[in-house]
Amino acid sequence: MQIKENIEALEKEYQEKLKNIKDLKQLQDIKTELLGKKGKITSLFKLLKEVPPEKKKEVGALINSVKAKFEDILKEFEKQLTEKELEEKLKKSKIDITLPGAWVSPGAPHPVTATLRYISDIFVSMGFKIEEGPEVELEEYNFDMLNIPKDHPAREMQDTFFINKKGYVLRTHTSPVQIRAMLKQKPPLAVIAPGKVYRKDLDPTHSPMFHQIEGLVVDENITFRDLKGILKIFLESVFGKNIPIRFRPSYFPFTEPSAEVDIGCTVCKGKGCRVCKNTGWLEILGCGMVDPNVFEAVGIDTEKYTGFAFGLGIERITMLKYQIPDIRLLFSNDMRFNLQFKGI
Ligand code: DAH
Repeated sequence: MQIKENIEALEKEYQEKLKNIKDLKQLQDIKTELLGKKGKITSLFKLLKEVPPEKKKEVGALINSVKAKFEDILKEFEKQLTEKELEEKLKKSKIDITLPGAWVSPGAPHPVTATLRYISDIFVSMGFKIEEGPEVELEEYNFDMLNIPKDHPAREMQDTFFINKKGYVLRTHTSPVQIRAMLKQKPPLAVIAPGKVYRKDLDPTHSPMFHQIEGLVVDENITFRDLKGILKIFLESVFGKNIPIRFRPSYFPFTEPSAEVDIGCTVCKGKGCRVCKNTGWLEILGCGMVDPNVFEAVGIDTEKYTGFAFGLGIERITMLKYQIPDIRLLFSNDMRFNLQFKGI
């Protein structure tokens, strides 16, 4: 019978073809050739019409078994070839651990933040607690309760940002946190208050927003000696053991007596230069003994307690420490500047 012979020939031909098959693409071609719509096995079914009725069953079964047989064989080949291709792919994409890794740029604190943390840590190590206050501050705390009355010239000394909420200002210094601390807690207390302050000022040494750290110690028998000792430890930690320090009489409404503290110029080592305006000294902070009027405003017994306070600008210290010539560089967000402070 012709059809039987056809089937046998087909089987033989394709068994042979399959032996040489190399990849899934070739397998797919063979599959189409045999089992596709116009495939060779599919076409065998069309020949059934010509088979005499008594043989139809037998021949039909034969074609079906050939079809099933090839389907099985092709499936097995597909499995093997898929595994083989996967293996080859994995072999090729082996990870080369000697290649350099993808570079990730880690962030770093801004030099002002770094200095602020550094200074805060020095005081925390001496037992000071960190206190915070709002940047939008009550005029009363920013001025009145700090012994700066409405008509006091000190109010004009500071060019204040007033806001359209009556009785509030953008704090011009961190000193109002002194008031908040004393209203909140009875003595003894030793606090520092780091934070942003605002003044209408803009030139190479002034920025409308800058940072201060305020310090306040209140207890029985606190004297100017305590103030000097604490500030000496602090300044030596920042500028080195041999830094010359001097206390110069000054005036602040909230301290009496008051002083400004200078250190020997870090640029010219006291010889005189542009940075120290040829004085050999750099003004670094304000301080003094808490004025009794301030204690009275917060209800602290002036017979029993004394205290000292100090305030300093973070940008100024940052600029001196890293020799930065213009305060505006700190806030320009220029990466060429910022990247120089990575890892400080
Ligand atoms: N608040 C002052 C300022 O902004 C700095 C200051 C001076 C703070 C003397 C103090 C102090 O606590 O005792 O210029």
